[in-house]
Amino acid sequence: MNAPLPASGASVAAVVVAAGKGLRAGGSVPKQFAPWRGKPLLRHCVEALAAAGVAPIVIAIPAGWEAEAEAATSGIAAVRFTHGGATRQDSVRLALEAMAGDAPDHVLIHDAARPDLPCAVIEALLAALETQPGAIPVLPVVDSVVRGAQGLRGAFVDRDGLYRVQTPQAFRYPAILAAHRAWPGATDAGDDAAVAEAAGLAVALVQGDERLRKVTFASDFQERAMTVRTGMGFD
Ligand code: CTP
Ligand code: MG
Repeated sequence: MNAPLPASGASVAAVVVAAGKGLRAGGSVPKQFAPWRGKPLLRHCVEALAAAGVAPIVIAIPAGWEAEAEAATSGIAAVRFTHGGATRQDSVRLALEAMAGDAPDHVLIHDAARPDLPCAVIEALLAALETQPGAIPVLPVVDSVVRGAQGLRGAFVDRDGLYRVQTPQAFRYPAILAAHRAWPGATDAGDDAAVAEAAGLAVALVQGDERLRKVTFASDFQERAMTVRTGMGFD
C-alpha cells in the first residue's frame, strides 16, 4: 500500500461521484460502467484511493445501477454506496451526508470519470489540509482563450492567472459538509471549491496532473481504443 495519509493521523475518506448519465459519452451504459483499459472506468480511481489507504470510499450511483456498481468495484473492502441526485452537486452532498454518522477528519471528492489518480496529487492535497480547510489541483491554461463565438474582435481573455480545475478536491469534512448544507438551493455550483468559497472557506491551489483528465465524450473512448490498437498516444 502507498502511504500518502497525513502523518498527523487524520482519517481520510472519499466521495466518488458516479451518478451521472454520461450523455456526452453516449453508449449503452453510463460511462462510469463502460470498459476502459480492460475494467470499468469507475474501478480505476477506486483502486487508486483504496491503495492509498483511503476509507471509506462512498460512491454515489444512479438508482437502478446497483448491480453494475457492485460488479465494477468487487473485492474492494472500503467501498460503500449511496444513491446520487439530479446534479453533481446533489450527488456530492448526499454522499457527504451518508458518512455523517462516522465522520472522517478529511474527505477527497472525486469524479468517477477521471480514471488516473496519481498518488502524488493525493499527497499534495492532504499536505495542504494541514494548514487550510480546502485544497484543489489545478493546471495553468496554456492555450489562448477567447470568449464567445462571434468572431475575435476584443474577445481574447488574458490567460495569465487562469487555471483549469481538476478533482479530487480535498476538504476538512465538517467544513465542506456545512458548506454544502448552506448552499442556496436553486443553482448548481458544479464544483465543490465553488461551494467552499461561497461558505467563506480558504481553498489552496496545488499542482494538478494532466493524467487527471476527465473522460467526457464518445471520442475519448474511441481515442482509447485507437491507442490500444496502435500502441501510440495518450499514456
Ligand atoms: N455526476 C453525478 N451525479 C450527477 C451528475 C454527474 O454523480 N447528477 C458525476 C458523473 O458520474 C461524473 C462526474 O459527476 O463522474 C463529472 O460529471 P460529468 O463528466 O459531466 O458526467 P455526466 O454528468 O455523467 O456526463 P454528461 O454531462 O455528459 O451527461
Ligand atoms: Mg454532467
